[in-house]
Amino acid sequence: MERLWVIDFGSQYSLLIVRRARELGVYAELIPWPQVGPELPSYVKGVIFSGSHASVSTGPALPTAWVGQRPILAICYSAQWLAAHNGGLVQESHAREFGPAELEVLWPTSPLWQGLPLHSRVWMSHSDTITHLPPNAIPTARTRTIPIAAYEVPSEQLYAVQFHPEVTHTEIGTRLLQNFLQGICGFSGSWKPEDQIPTLLEELRRQMPSDRAVGALSGGIDSTVAAILAYRAIGERFQGIFVDTGLLRQGETEEVLNAYEAVGLPVQLVDARHLFYTALEGITDPEAKRQIIGRLFIQVFEETAQRLGSVRYLVQGTIYPDVVESGTEVAARIKSHHNVGGLPDRLGLTLVEPLRLLFKDEVRAIGRALGLPEGFLQRHPFPGPGLAVRILGSITPARVERLRQADAIFLETLHRHGWYNRTWQAFAVLLPLRSVGVGGDQRLYGEVIALRAVQSTDGMTATPVALPPELLEEAAQRILAEVPDVSRVVYDISTKPPATIEWE
Ligand code: XMP
Repeated sequence: MERLWVIDFGSQYSLLIVRRARELGVYAELIPWPQVGPELPSYVKGVIFSGSHASVSTGPALPTAWVGQRPILAICYSAQWLAAHNGGLVQESHAREFGPAELEVLWPTSPLWQGLPLHSRVWMSHSDTITHLPPNAIPTARTRTIPIAAYEVPSEQLYAVQFHPEVTHTEIGTRLLQNFLQGICGFSGSWKPEDQIPTLLEELRRQMPSDRAVGALSGGIDSTVAAILAYRAIGERFQGIFVDTGLLRQGETEEVLNAYEAVGLPVQLVDARHLFYTALEGITDPEAKRQIIGRLFIQVFEETAQRLGSVRYLVQGTIYPDVVESGTEVAARIKSHHNVGGLPDRLGLTLVEPLRLLFKDEVRAIGRALGLPEGFLQRHPFPGPGLAVRILGSITPARVERLRQADAIFLETLHRHGWYNRTWQAFAVLLPLRSVGVGGDQRLYGEVIALRAVQSTDGMTATPVALPPELLEEAAQRILAEVPDVSRVVYDISTKPPATIEWE
């Protein structure tokens, strides 16, 4: 399959370049710079060199042998490095450019700039700057402080910009990338995530030629799509396992099992509610709760897999940002992701991750093509430890039930007002305190429910959603009227950071 290579020299925006290309219908891959060799495979139709936090005098070298072989777009650091190593000059800038700048196009007939406005706002992030170009290069754009904001070497199909076309603050960014990908590289722009299904199935068959495979299903999109693909690839040799921890939301087990049934996925339900409740009795410390849940989950999964016999593979729904964030050679490790961490080693299983090169919305598109219901595809994220991290204080079946009811009322209210799909994540939390109220004619000394609804793109940062007051009041009134032993409802307006999305 023809593709774009994005070579990552360590810029914070490298993954965003891949994202933009795929949005433009071009299959792109992020390649960390230490992995590139002198050869450029024939399926690579074009290359983008990313920016970097490094300076050209000390930073990584670019594969210069590629220049002239395929069209190249060099961004920031890469534009400077190529200029500096081909007879130009790069100096520390007197006017450090960071943030927005006004760009003026000097050569509007160039294939990169065709059809773009002569003046627009772009996003800069660099302190070095190109002061002299190599002899064969032509300046194509400038800003008020940077005379060479872009250049090109037409005979070599080399295009270079000192701003970031991949960030949304650059007004012409998408159109410039489109000019490069379609006009210059000749990509058709017709790639769709679901086009990959046959290739993904083929790859899975190759990876799992014999023996059995299991998948730990969480009810989330990623684990479900990975499992459906595995089942389509190897048939009855795949078995999904869904553990009911007793910490799922109201009606969730049935809802999730129905979705699995709708797509014909074989899933074994393991009822471990009693086991989890017993182990969590009297435990109030958040970390202790998480550890107990993690340990029990592994235990249940291990016992189930052993009962099945001759299991050799574990299919997991790791997606592209997880892979990148879990640490490439050039990007620092941000967080470690495997929800069922420790399982493969402990069980001696080979890990199979069919979605490791896909973004979340691409996984959703594949899930849709595989027949998953729309309601399932739009579900909010839900944490692995389940309601345990939303029940502050001790976990008892009665408190789980209380939270479930309140949570279901809140989500129902969001659906009815058309806000569920407009929030990234929303839920109720049961607090470890009581407050005074009146129920009927009686004094009520009940528990407190906090409601939380946040906007986010990846869960790393979040802002509270300004829900309409009438929606919040309706949810609160119903919770107070319908959920026994709750005397107060509050709304959480904390941003992340410093708060986290979950309360524990
Ligand atoms: P926090 O609370 O860290 O949550 O701001 C960020 C996002 O991650 C989810 N979350 C988890 N997901 N296992 C998971 O699979 C976990 O242990 C876990 N803890 C938090 C949380 O729901 C939010 O979407």
